[in-house]
Amino acid sequence: MEIEKLFRENLQKYNSYETEEHPEGDGWIKLNVNENAYPPIQEILEDINSALKNKDLLRKYPDPLALELRKAILNQLLRDKDTLTNRNTVFIGNGSDEVLDVIFKVFVNPGDEVIILYPSFSLYKVLATLYDAKINEIKLNDDFSIPESIYDQKGKLMFINSPNDPNGKSFDNDAILKICYNFPGIVVVDEAYADFSDFTCLPLLKDVKNLIVCRSFSKTFSMASLRIGYALADAIIVKEMNRVKLPFNTNNIAQFAAISCIKHRSKVYEQNKKIIAERKRLTEKLNIYNGISVLPSDSNFIFLKFDNKSTTLKFLWDLKDLKILVRHFSKPDLYNYIRITIGTKEENDKFLEAFNSIADKYL
Ligand SMILES: Cc1ncc(COP(=O)(O)O)c(C=O)c1O
Repeated sequence: MEIEKLFRENLQKYNSYETEEHPEGDGWIKLNVNENAYPPIQEILEDINSALKNKDLLRKYPDPLALELRKAILNQLLRDKDTLTNRNTVFIGNGSDEVLDVIFKVFVNPGDEVIILYPSFSLYKVLATLYDAKINEIKLNDDFSIPESIYDQKGKLMFINSPNDPNGKSFDNDAILKICYNFPGIVVVDEAYADFSDFTCLPLLKDVKNLIVCRSFSKTFSMASLRIGYALADAIIVKEMNRVKLPFNTNNIAQFAAISCIKHRSKVYEQNKKIIAERKRLTEKLNIYNGISVLPSDSNFIFLKFDNKSTTLKFLWDLKDLKILVRHFSKPDLYNYIRITIGTKEENDKFLEAFNSIADKYL
């Protein structure tokens, strides 16, 4: 029996999401996957520890609708943001990855058109292929701004990542609002990194019904391992998302930890200011080199542009020899770029020292 013949047909053209390198052994500086540089603050770790003392925590199924967490997001986390009307509410997913998957489950029939910007977070395209959507990839302008053609698109879903991975810059709300008014389908704005800037399109939810804003606890709250993401949208959309998600999609510990993150958010935001300050420092230090420019970033990473491909690759390989991992994209129009996650001050110092020694050789 040829098992392969039983697989869904569209998996033949499906390329799964490529996760980045997780090197073995000690001593690596991993600036390649945009994790938060710092561990969760002590108060959150203590809350999680004390929750684990409850012997029923693991035995019992979690609340399928994560009601306590949803209340904490709506009444505390977003309280100051002048964001939501009573039309809007929140969906909780197993990381924003799952939130994106559930959006496809709700909206996309095979053959439906899905608009994806390029370059952007690669999971949108992976999911679109998995759900047999017709992909319409719109190339960003050379400066990574939104091209005018975006306002004429028709389709079921459109994905906008703001700030955009890999270049790091947010799109402005006037453009997003205009897109929402012009687009006949649902506009998904993925704000996984938005807490590293003052920018958010959350206030637009008051004006438009066809907008879903996705956010994550992975980056802001250093919770990538526990997998909590959420979507803010019109209640009609959230109701349907809850109907199609798997019953117990987020676990008890993660829900509890996320509530603790919200309780201690001001201290977390203080800690994140160190990342923002380091982003500025790295940008300034790297912009000094001839033939290198750092793009302005609203995220916990920066995008570095080199003059040519061969220098880019030499830096990439030499950094790896020095046990420093950064991200390179194997797409011709991105060959000259490297994406660097902002690390701790100590990691960034080591990175700068390594970079300087490599620059002495090649620049
Ligand atoms: C733009 C973007 N959206 C979503 C995600 C997924 O985040 P989560 O950990 O919440 O699934 C990532 C992860 O790197 C990302 O870069």
